[in-house]
Formats: sequence, C-alpha cells, structure tokens
Amino acid sequence: MKRAERSGPNNNGEIPLARRFKPVRGAFSSNFRYLFFGSIFLTLISFFITITSNSFQRFSIAARQKQLNSLISPDGLLLGHFPYPEATDSELVLAYPGLRLHRDAFIALRDMRAAAAYDGISLVLLSGYRSISLQEEIFYTNKSLRNQIAIERAKVSAPPGYSEHSTGYAIDLGDATMRETDFEVTFEGTPAFKWLKRNAAKFHFVLSFPRGNSQGVSYEPWHWRFEGTVDALRKFEPANKRLRLERNSKSK
Ligand code: DAL
Ligand code: ZN
Repeated sequence: MKRAERSGPNNNGEIPLARRFKPVRGAFSSNFRYLFFGSIFLTLISFFITITSNSFQRFSIAARQKQLNSLISPDGLLLGHFPYPEATDSELVLAYPGLRLHRDAFIALRDMRAAAAYDGISLVLLSGYRSISLQEEIFYTNKSLRNQIAIERAKVSAPPGYSEHSTGYAIDLGDATMRETDFEVTFEGTPAFKWLKRNAAKFHFVLSFPRGNSQGVSYEPWHWRFEGTVDALRKFEPANKRLRLERNSKSK
C-alpha cells in the first residue's frame, strides 16, 4: 500500500470513510470528560460558598457576642443579667409538647399545679427551658424587629448565655381563665398570680424580676425560678447574693 493511501486523502481526494468522523466512542468520552470535570468544578464552587457563608455566619455571631462581652460589668452582669449555663439533655424532661424543663423544676411545678387546681386555680406553663441559641434568636430578632438598642431589649429579654430559662429552672406562667394577660403586667391582677404570691414559695418558686428590681429588668409577674435544690441554688447564688447585699445595705 502506498504511503498516501495509508495516511492522507486517497487518490481521488476523498478522505477515507473511516476518518471522516470522530469515532463515536471518542465523542462520548469527551462529553463525559466535560460532564465529569464540570460537576467537580460545581461541587468545589458550592463547597466553597458553603464554607464561606458558614464562616461569615460564625464571624458575625462571634462579633456580636464579642460586642456584648465588652459590656460585662465587674460583677459579671451583662445589661443587668447574670450568666447562666445551659441545662444538659439528661437534666431536661418534656413537660408539655414542645416545652422542656429541668426535671426537678418539672416535679415541683406538677405538684404546684395540682395544689392550685385544688384551690380552683388553673396555671398554664407558657415557657420553660430555652437553649442559648434560641435565646440568641429571640434577643436579636426581636431587637431588630422592634428597632431596639441592646439596653432597651435587655429590659425584657436576656442576652444569649444570660437567661434563667437556659438552666431549665425558670418558668413563665399564665392563668388559663385569662389568656389575654399572658406575658403582660396585667397578669398580676389574675387569680393565678394572687395564688402564686401566697403559695409559690411552698414549692420553691421565686419571682425573679419583681417590680423595681435592682437588675433593671422590667417587672415580669409571670416569670418564676425554681430554687428547691442545691444545684438550683448554686446557679442563682449570684442573683441571691446581690439581693442579700441590697437588703443589708437598706437595713443599715
Ligand atoms: N424575659 C427574661 C428576662 C429572659 O429573657 O430570660
Ligand atoms: Zn421568663
């Protein structure tokens, strides 16, 4: 066979049939290559975007927390709130659907509700344990929605890491017969509140934010904390110590 016949156009100038098209398998594998490298590229891009946005989120949370930490006063208070650790999963029990409490607070609340019911009072549990991340959402989302500065927001809501609710020992209570007073100062006019004032201490519940409290937190007649164990007392010792000091200085 002559050379021209082997490698170039044949004698009549035609390209040999077998060379006119790329082999089908070759075309397929080149498409496959595009697909393969394209998907690797897209995966890398989405991976990069995820990492960047997560880092950005972490950065903004850390920046906000740093900003708040710079406001901590020498006695450990942040905008009038004491720091509190988060209850562990093993300490928490489901009190009602969607509401968890420290098991000791739950037992005391169960007994208190039964005693109240015996007196014709129906106590409703409105809120219990809140994780620090939920508290973060509540604090910052409401602050932003209501166009509040941190000092204003902190009068009604603790900054993340500073809420009694994170311990699982704090509860918000309502009166089943007067739901319009839920989370309102008018709750103090309900039969439930009057009953609580007379009886809550029997079950080791204390009003955390009475009217005119020195922490500067707004009056919350619905918010009670459980102090019926040494563990609970330890958690609330800084708050109780402040009260003791205040009372001592007033009696001098
Ligand atoms: N409302 C109380 C202060 C809290 O957010 O813990
Ligand atoms: Zn509360």
